[in-house]
Amino acid sequence: MTQRYLVTGGAGFIGSHVTDRLLGLGHEVTVIDNFCTGKRENLAAVLEEGGYDAARLRVVEGSITDPSAVAEAFEGVSGCVHLAALPSVVRSVEAPVESHESNVTGGIQILDAARRAKVRVVYAGSSSAYGDQDAQFKHEELRESPLSPYAATKLAVELYARAFGQVYDASIVVTRFFNVFGPRQVPDSPYSGVIAAFCFAILQGRSPRIDGDGEQSRDFTYVGDVARGVCDALLAKDLPSGCHTVNLACGGNHTINDLLRILNDCAGTSIRAEHGPSRTGDVRHSQADIARIRELIGFEPQVSFEEGLRRTYDWYQRTYK
Ligand SMILES: NC(=O)c1ccc[n+]([C@@H]2O[C@H](COP(=O)([O-])OP(=O)(O)OC[C@H]3O[C@@H](n4cnc5c(N)ncnc54)[C@H](O)[C@@H]3O)[C@@H](O)[C@H]2O)c1
Repeated sequence: MTQRYLVTGGAGFIGSHVTDRLLGLGHEVTVIDNFCTGKRENLAAVLEEGGYDAARLRVVEGSITDPSAVAEAFEGVSGCVHLAALPSVVRSVEAPVESHESNVTGGIQILDAARRAKVRVVYAGSSSAYGDQDAQFKHEELRESPLSPYAATKLAVELYARAFGQVYDASIVVTRFFNVFGPRQVPDSPYSGVIAAFCFAILQGRSPRIDGDGEQSRDFTYVGDVARGVCDALLAKDLPSGCHTVNLACGGNHTINDLLRILNDCAGTSIRAEHGPSRTGDVRHSQADIARIRELIGFEPQVSFEEGLRRTYDWYQRTYK
């Protein structure tokens, strides 16, 4: 049956793919976004590429820190995917109070509105909660160890989510994302994700910049897999009540040097990187244990790193030619 779902930050990179997936499943979507990093063009592209009727998408322009905008956004929705946040470590180091305001103050507004509306929230948690620990696989039982203000804000909302699960028996799934990449990620901001920035540099024939020696590794996850996992968690029947915390990732790991090599293969180039100093708050290795999300909702990644990179590079090539 058709339902309406709220996607906070729906005009952003991941939010636009989640919106696309929900519309593709036949649902209606409300997006709340203040367009600070999100773009109207992302939503226009979702409607155009999917051939969806624009009347199925409602957009509330406003901040998740504003209770009246949040109340308007929650009208008639059966569940919420909460993605709105300032998502950059670097930005949070420069302006921690600003990150706190959007991520934590905004986050609790969304959790509170959802528990009053008695609807499930899927919250975009972050692998940054793990910090830099020796365990090769990051699993959900590890003690959290945030290394940046950004990581602290993302974890703070997780803690609220757990408390809301206990106190109000709210239905919440915290999906911890690990380096998400794919089409529509902003490539030309100082806060851009590494894959978007590298694709853009290669298209311009420039050397991408690597912070440190490039042997740091990440569990890169294609955005289509993330959108599918999030929507499956949102729509899952018979989830035990309360708050569940799960990694949502591929379970692989690739170094930044690997990434540049594969992108050079995709582009038919042999561009070398410029190396700079390591970044404050950066973790060395990040790889997810995905046993728990498999068990909770049967999630399996479907897009390999190489295939995801090819699709992503092709998109940047078409879009920024
Ligand atoms: N991209 C990743 O690799 C990654 C990894 C871990 C977690 N996450 C989380 O996933 C979520 C989405 O990230 P993204 O990469 O799509 O980033 P993004 O910047 O593209 O999307 C964030 C969206 O939230 C909106 N927004 C920010 N503050 C807002 C506010 N106060 N009110 C309303 N809208 C607001 C922005 O305009 C944007 O549309 C974030 O919560 C981020 O912390 C992302």
